[in-house]
Amino acid sequence: MLTREQALEAVGSVTAQYSADAVTVRDVVVKDRQVSMTVLTASEDVRPSLEAALREALARAGAETVHCRFRALEGGAGAAAAPQGQAGGKAQPAAGQSTGPVQGHGAGLDNPLLDPGSGVQFIAVASGKGGVGKSTVTVNLAVALARKGKRVGIIDADIYGFSVPDMMGIETRPEIVNERVIPIERFGVKVMSMGFFVEDNSPIVWRGPMLGKMLRNFFAEIEWGELDYLLLDLPPGTGDVALDVHQIIPQSKEIIVTTPHATAAFVAARAGAMAIKTKHEIIGVVENMSYYKCSKCGEPEYIFGRGGGARLAESLHAELLAQIPLGQPDNHISEPDFSPSVYKAESETGELYLHMAEQVIQKCGL
Ligand SMILES: Nc1ncnc2c1ncn2[C@@H]1O[C@H](COP(=O)(O)OP(=O)(O)OP(=O)(O)O)[C@@H](O)[C@H]1O
Ligand SMILES: [Mg+2]
Repeated sequence: MLTREQALEAVGSVTAQYSADAVTVRDVVVKDRQVSMTVLTASEDVRPSLEAALREALARAGAETVHCRFRALEGGAGAAAAPQGQAGGKAQPAAGQSTGPVQGHGAGLDNPLLDPGSGVQFIAVASGKGGVGKSTVTVNLAVALARKGKRVGIIDADIYGFSVPDMMGIETRPEIVNERVIPIERFGVKVMSMGFFVEDNSPIVWRGPMLGKMLRNFFAEIEWGELDYLLLDLPPGTGDVALDVHQIIPQSKEIIVTTPHATAAFVAARAGAMAIKTKHEIIGVVENMSYYKCSKCGEPEYIFGRGGGARLAESLHAELLAQIPLGQPDNHISEPDFSPSVYKAESETGELYLHMAEQVIQKCGL
């Protein structure tokens, strides 16, 4: 049995050799003997040796598998960071092997799911900035829509830095029936992620055009069944994947996520500007990590500043859908349907997501 404390200690013994502005580790999740984490590094050069050291330290502590999601470390408020502007600047590991429905032919527009008449509402969750909570918002909005009785899917389009399976506590892999991949269902949401097809966390080597191909296959070769909503968790920035999404699903709508900090909103605006340019309708803006509610007095404290979401919404002529406070879900690993990132329906934040889902349903007319 490997406890989270033991894993954190092992990780700490490695990161202690670096300064905090060179290497930071977050989101350490331990389930059985599988460990996953997000590793932020200021330089890409350190990643191979750092990953080897983390694997070794964790293996010594008793880990069976270790999955590192690499991200670029940048400064700034709330910065759990990632490169801005280009997906090409993301972690590009040197070698690895993967399996899955990714080497096949491109799906193209003959895919019924992508047909504008399919009735499926596509919603891409984007931001120019990393670490603002796109994945958290995607996962929780999807679960809230499902709690409202909708048929919902998620595509984790963050191909290098997939995090949705971990965040939802998914530990199984999809089955293949009649050469079609069956998405994993969790909290009533069907999920597809590159993370399901990476053997033992081997890094991914595809670049550029392969990304679009992969994304197309996520539509074509997956047995989605009937869906009302398909949410796409985009990687940070306005790079290749974001462009592919714009091209593959011109009818997609968008939600832009920001933190309340003025700079974050400014960077998020780039993703909004791209949506406008590609004529994607912006459903609204979500301001995440908006405030911290003091546990003693109940008053909000605006730790990361104030007003970023409202200003961004105004500049995009969109609505501010929600202001989500700081705070992790009150979930415990001993619960049967444990997940690190899904808020319970009856929690305060869970209710905010339900309200967000109602607004989305109203705006999409579904
Ligand atoms: N409202 C919140 N309160 C506290 N922590 C949060 C909140 N929202 C997100 N987080 C945490 O912040 C970190 C970043 O969130 P998340 O991974 O959802 O962001 P992201 O924008 O998808 O990041 P990336 O750009 O790396 O894909 C995670 O550790 C997540 O658990
Ligand atoms: Mg993410």
